[in-house]
Amino acid sequence: MSTVLDIINTRSSIRKYTDQPVPEDICRCLVEAGLKAPTAANKREIHISVVGKDHPVQAEIQKDLNPDAKTNFFYDAPVTLYLSADENFRWSALDAGIAVENIHLLAADLGLGSVIIGIVDGVLNGEKKAEYAAKLGFPEGYRYEIAIAFGYPDTTKEPHAIDFDKDVTIL
Ligand SMILES: Cc1cc2nc3c(=O)[nH]c(=O)nc-3n(C[C@H](O)[C@H](O)[C@H](O)COP(=O)(O)O)c2cc1C
Repeated sequence: MSTVLDIINTRSSIRKYTDQPVPEDICRCLVEAGLKAPTAANKREIHISVVGKDHPVQAEIQKDLNPDAKTNFFYDAPVTLYLSADENFRWSALDAGIAVENIHLLAADLGLGSVIIGIVDGVLNGEKKAEYAAKLGFPEGYRYEIAIAFGYPDTTKEPHAIDFDKDVTIL
């Protein structure tokens, strides 16, 4: 059985997926992992929209981001989760970040690959913000915070290096 430390030490962002669909119960497990994350003041303000790769909203976002892009911004992953949260709550972005990392780590533990998707922020919080909020089923007063795409990995990637001496100060 893997430990959280094993997963932290071996995980990487995955940007190539097989066509194998992700079973519904696995998707549900990942969504629940996001919702079980801690939130400031136990506000539990995170909402998750589950979107399959063939849903038309995926193509619309892709087109609005860059109609000429050669690569798919979701890497053709079978499923993308959009995390939205109360736009007036001070900690929404941080809470969404914690929730998405829960999902990323559990995905790795379940043999899936995933990649956090921030690049869509300009589109989802831009001039079509209200339209996309409705299309993605965000609750009233919620805004996109972060997304994560996942599926079965069709590639491997080495974990990134860390520079302890540069990035850590011990007093
Ligand atoms: C807030 C955030 C937004 C990100 N947005 C994207 C994105 O839009 N597209 C992408 O390919 N990777 C995205 N990533 C993944 C990072 O590029 C990745 O974590 C980084 O390159 C380190 O690679 P590793 O996760 O494999 O260690 C994002 C990561 C974070 C934390």
